[in-house]
Parts: sequence; C-alpha cells; structure tokens
Amino acid sequence: MSTLARGGKLHPDDRGAPRPAESAARRGESQTPSQLPERGAPSPGRAGAAAPGTAAIEPIAKPITLRTIAKWVRAGEKFACLTCYDATTARWLQQAGVPVLLAGDTAAEMILGLPGTIHAPLEFLITITAAVKRGAPNCFVIADMPFMSYQADDADGLRNAGRFMTAGGADAVKLEVDHTFAPLVEKMARAGVPVVAHIGARPQQAKLHGGYGSVGRTAAEAQQLVADALIMQQAGAVMLLIEACPNEVSQAIITKTTIPLIGCGGGPACHGQIVVLHDILGLTPWQPPFAQPVAHLGEPLIAAAQQWVRNVRTSEQGGLGEHPYKMM
Ligand code: KIV
Repeated sequence: MSTLARGGKLHPDDRGAPRPAESAARRGESQTPSQLPERGAPSPGRAGAAAPGTAAIEPIAKPITLRTIAKWVRAGEKFACLTCYDATTARWLQQAGVPVLLAGDTAAEMILGLPGTIHAPLEFLITITAAVKRGAPNCFVIADMPFMSYQADDADGLRNAGRFMTAGGADAVKLEVDHTFAPLVEKMARAGVPVVAHIGARPQQAKLHGGYGSVGRTAAEAQQLVADALIMQQAGAVMLLIEACPNEVSQAIITKTTIPLIGCGGGPACHGQIVVLHDILGLTPWQPPFAQPVAHLGEPLIAAAQQWVRNVRTSEQGGLGEHPYKMM
C-alpha cells in the first residue's frame, strides 16, 4: 500500500519530494497564502469535470433517487458528488446542481478539528446528515457510518444504519468494507437499507496500516479490489465508492459490475466523482492532487470578516448601519 493522508490525500512520499506546503501540513503547521496552490491552476480532480466548462448547470429541482442515478449510468452521464456537513451549505449545493451529497466522517476533521475520521461521533454524524437532508431535500444524501458504528457487531450496525435512515433522513449509508463485510451488507439490504460500499483505501483503517495509502497498484491488489466490488454487489450494495486507486482498477470494476461506481481519487472511469468540499473551496491547508481547489474562498472569507471588524470599530460613525430597534 502506498502512503496517503486523510480522505484519499496522497502522502508526499507517494509523489516524490514533499512540497513545502505538504510538509507543513504533515507537521500540523498552518500555511501562508503563498504556499497555497497557485490561483487559476488546472483542476484535474474537479467534480463534474466531464461537463463542458461553460455548460449551464440547473438547480436540483426534483428528488434524485437510485433510479435517477442508474439512468445516468446507463446513459453514460457522469455525476458530481461533494461532502457536505450542514443545512446552509446543502441548500447552496442543491441550488448549484450537485445531485449527490455525502455527510462524510471527514466532518470530524473539517468541522470538529479532530485529528482523523475515526474520531467522528455517531450522534454528530446522524445530526449533520439530517441537517444536510433538510437543507437539500432533492439531493441524494449519503450518510457515512463512523468508525465502530458497524464493525463490532452486525446487529448494532443494522440498528445504527436504521437511525441514519430515519433520524438522519439518509437516502443511503456508506460503510468502509472489503469482502468480509458481505454478511452485514446482506443483512442491511434485507432490512431495506441501501448500502454504498466504500472499498479501496479506507481511512478508518489507517492506524492498522501505519498510515493512509493508495491501493490496487499491484496486480494482486487490483484483482482483490475487483473481487471485493463484485462481492459487495452480490451482497446487495446499491453503489460502490472507491478511494485512491489507479483508473485501470475502476475500469475493471465497471466492466464486472452493474451498480454505479463513485471515485474519490479513483480515476476518470468512475461514473461519479466525490471530493471533500473544503478542499475544492480552497479552505484546507493542502489538497490531494485529485481535489485541487476550484475557488479560494479563504481569502474572501478573511476580507468579509475584516470588513465586519472595521464596521464594529467604526460603529459610532455608523459602521453598523441604522439600529433597527427604536423605543416604542
Ligand atoms: O467522509 C468523506 O469525506 C469520505 C470521502 C470518500 C469523500 O468518505
């Protein structure tokens, strides 16, 4: 297994010499704006990049279901997916025409500032899944089942999946799996829980492997991944998500299976593409090569907050505008 960091982020050793920004990120240091990726740089990992750059994108006006996604797959239409962790952002993403949202366990890092996805609390993920669905009722919302919410015991896993479906309003749950999880996926399918089987690099296993990693780069690993994908489909998974592998592996999976395949660093062959929203918005200190920023929102955010600071400091001269509440 080659080395990777959080959510499919390639470890610098995997790509040759570390860039200064990546070394800083690995040491947990913050980066200066000059270390951030250059503005206007090409965005090879952009979700939905198959669409021509100028094509109009409509808001998601009707609920997206598994049937909608199956239709896209049959028609060869690629679809964009993004992580999302709150209702307000979900509303904007639905308006932007992003059909599939993942209330991902990367919320542990992006929202809670925790050191890895294994720290994502179950209750928190159920809460944010519900928030995302409320904000984007027409999007297909996938809930990420956190570390130890399904690995210890199948019955617990089933009950927790049910909570994501009912309390969380999820359209499907995602589990990080290999072929050994087939009995659990079967039980979930039998109970009516749509499962997205996350194969390939599995961040919840990072400690077991001594770090994050890409997978499927040897013939043996590639064959195992294709076998895992097929077993997951046979167990009743409704979709596959593959993280950090060569495009050839994704292509082979597509040839052998019939369910949609979402890639997170899985190459252009995948039917859908997912990345961490904060990465493509340029809000994270560094990003994996397949999730390069399409915007740099840190800078306007700083500018807006600075404007607020100025407004408050000049409030005596009317910086806050006219006060709305008058004595009756
Ligand atoms: O939680 C997450 O962000 C993920 C990735 C696959 C996008 O699981």
